[in-house]
Amino acid sequence: MNNIITDLKTVRLSPDTNAVVILDQTRLPGKEEYVSLFTAEEIWEAIYKLKVRGAPAIGIAAAYGIYVCSKQIQAETYDTFYREFDRVKQYLAGARPTAVNLTAALNRMEDVVCANREKSLSEIIRLLHDEANAIWKEDAVACRQIGENCLTLLQPGMGILTHCNAGHLAVSEYGTALAPVYLGEERGYKFKVFADETRPLLQGARLTAYELCKAGVDVTLICDNMASAVMKKGWVQAVVVGCDRVAANGDVANKIGTSGVAVLARHYGIPFYVLGPTSTIDCQCSDGDAIEIEERSPDEITEMWYARRMAPEGIKAYNPAFDVTSHELVTAIITERGIFYPPFHFTAES
Ligand code: MRU
Repeated sequence: MNNIITDLKTVRLSPDTNAVVILDQTRLPGKEEYVSLFTAEEIWEAIYKLKVRGAPAIGIAAAYGIYVCSKQIQAETYDTFYREFDRVKQYLAGARPTAVNLTAALNRMEDVVCANREKSLSEIIRLLHDEANAIWKEDAVACRQIGENCLTLLQPGMGILTHCNAGHLAVSEYGTALAPVYLGEERGYKFKVFADETRPLLQGARLTAYELCKAGVDVTLICDNMASAVMKKGWVQAVVVGCDRVAANGDVANKIGTSGVAVLARHYGIPFYVLGPTSTIDCQCSDGDAIEIEERSPDEITEMWYARRMAPEGIKAYNPAFDVTSHELVTAIITERGIFYPPFHFTAES
């Protein structure tokens, strides 16, 4: 693979460890601009406004974020420190509700604080730094393995359709759904990728098209409503998507529009693969009905991206950011631990 992609650092810590540095994804594809985030408010806003987005990436940003904020806590005692840590944790966790990785990463950071209450505050902060780095590293290792696992299901030259962006920009490195594409590219598989533009925030057009083009992958951009036509022509042999939360029964929350793609894939007899790290599986969630779906501003539908408003003033608009694909439509869920086929029964050991 053209490693220009891994040269882009989606989320990292500044060299002096006083800030979280993100590649501002709202500026892509026009501008590769890094932004330093110093405060809890700046980190919350970056997650909420999708400057950093993608389930694993927001978990990593929150982990680095709470480390940066912990260093700023003025406290003499453990209890005072923990009270403020918990306040910041709850605040960051509220930035986006659907992706479980956000709360999972923050819970891991809290576990470090709670398990080391006998240690000095400076030692606890050092351990938080190590834990945030470990979350980044584990995600990078997981993504590569997810790619390897999925590649065993794909053949050279296949047409692959993807929705939203589950690539390098959404994670630590490589991506989840795009990891097999990158690994295949390195090995001469020459996949032909179709990227749904992904209304309303255009993660497919702005981000997937951008990163695959940059890596030299053959990618064709389509509007969301063109997927059926492309499938009917026989140009797609597999669908790969990421996930924001997978329930114990295999229901999958992912970017709005994913469930429609799954319905189409079933109609045309195309395998529908969901790729994500184990950290995206929420065994506490029995099925998709229990997953909270983020709703965003109607302006993203009526005004954003248009030179002028494209819908009448006062029109009602419904803007859910995610949908749930029923487990019945999922061919396999692929994590770093393997390939899971129906019936899905995820447990903490899966
Ligand atoms: O709203 P976004 O851009 O954060 O939505 C992202 C997705 O739905 C991705 O498919 C998902 O987070 C998987 S990222 C590896």
